[in-house]
Amino acid sequence: MQIHLSRPDVTEREIDAVCAVLRGPDLSLGPKLAAFERAFAEYVGRRRAIAVNSGTSGLFLCMSALGIGPGDEVITTPFTFIASATSIMMAGAKPVFVDIDPVSLNIDPAQIECRITERTKAILPVEVFGNPTGFDKICEIAAQHNLAVIEDSCEALGSALNGKKAGTFGTMSVFGFYPNKQITTGEGGMILTDDDTLAHTCVSLRNQGRDEDSGWLAHERLGYNFRLSDISCALGIVQLSRISEIKTKRRQVAQWYQEILTDDDRLMVPAEPDGCDVSWFVFVVRLTNHFTLEQRDRILQQMMDRRIQVSNYFPPVHLMPFIAEQFGYQQGDFPIAEAVSQRTIALPFHNHLTKDEVAVVCETLREILHSVSCIP
Ligand SMILES: Cc1ncc(COP(=O)(O)O)c(C=O)c1O
Repeated sequence: MQIHLSRPDVTEREIDAVCAVLRGPDLSLGPKLAAFERAFAEYVGRRRAIAVNSGTSGLFLCMSALGIGPGDEVITTPFTFIASATSIMMAGAKPVFVDIDPVSLNIDPAQIECRITERTKAILPVEVFGNPTGFDKICEIAAQHNLAVIEDSCEALGSALNGKKAGTFGTMSVFGFYPNKQITTGEGGMILTDDDTLAHTCVSLRNQGRDEDSGWLAHERLGYNFRLSDISCALGIVQLSRISEIKTKRRQVAQWYQEILTDDDRLMVPAEPDGCDVSWFVFVVRLTNHFTLEQRDRILQQMMDRRIQVSNYFPPVHLMPFIAEQFGYQQGDFPIAEAVSQRTIALPFHNHLTKDEVAVVCETLREILHSVSCIP
């Protein structure tokens, strides 16, 4: 038996909705697109939602809509999925990294101001693993310096900080719907904003630079094909309607892990921070500082040898060779992100996981931790 790292939760309702679209005439730019965007904007609480074919496309379109390009700098975190930084590079701008808070694992608001220069155009903070801690402070800093905030909410659908939902903090925010996310459309993403001009630009950019009322072969600007099909949108509508059930299931799995692992003094186990409603995306435990990178990697390998899928979310983004070489980042530049990165273990986490499977994962992890910590 294999215990998977992640699995989508797709019911007969989603399958019926997708089949209904396939039986009709509108596979793209049809009524399901408009309905998904409306439902999403309403759920998060923003004026406009623009569906795109991935979270990465969404982040890149935010750069374009905000006019960010060569010579500009965007402040972001080195502890994230690569697309947060590469979307900045795709626009021709420079990702300027700021170290993270060792508890929330989000960009450290206290270290942002000293990295702002006259070239800085935006801050791109990420709700890492669904945790919105610090986003109120980040927005305050951005407002004081007249900077846009591109909120990377790809991991945080359904999270909130002091009652304010993830996706409502940024000038623009972006969600992703890859199958490991809280809801999936297979592939897909959503841009949110309250600004009609930015929304209008994104609608055009995702559709070959067409304006909403212009003809099929009239192109007003350099655009892309980043459209999300009605097939995907039909899947997304049903998934979104189940978000509260999905959140509850994931919270339950997180609780099972917490009950077994929280007292283990070799591990730091994630808990819901004060003031936050975390919509659990993944369950990432951290080894204490006594463990080395080599030991962590040995633990990952041994878990996989026992047919339990685990992962090293996230390697430090600034040390990816193509980024380090282009911008001159080095080992030691962001010590907290680097120390955290080398000790994370993402455990299997999805809606179908049973209490028994969680117990097997924890028992296996404990056995392996014991054997690895005995080898100097
Ligand atoms: C923080 C973050 N940003 C961006 C993305 C990119 O989303 P996508 O895979 O839909 O392009 C992801 C998805 O894994 C993510 O976790």
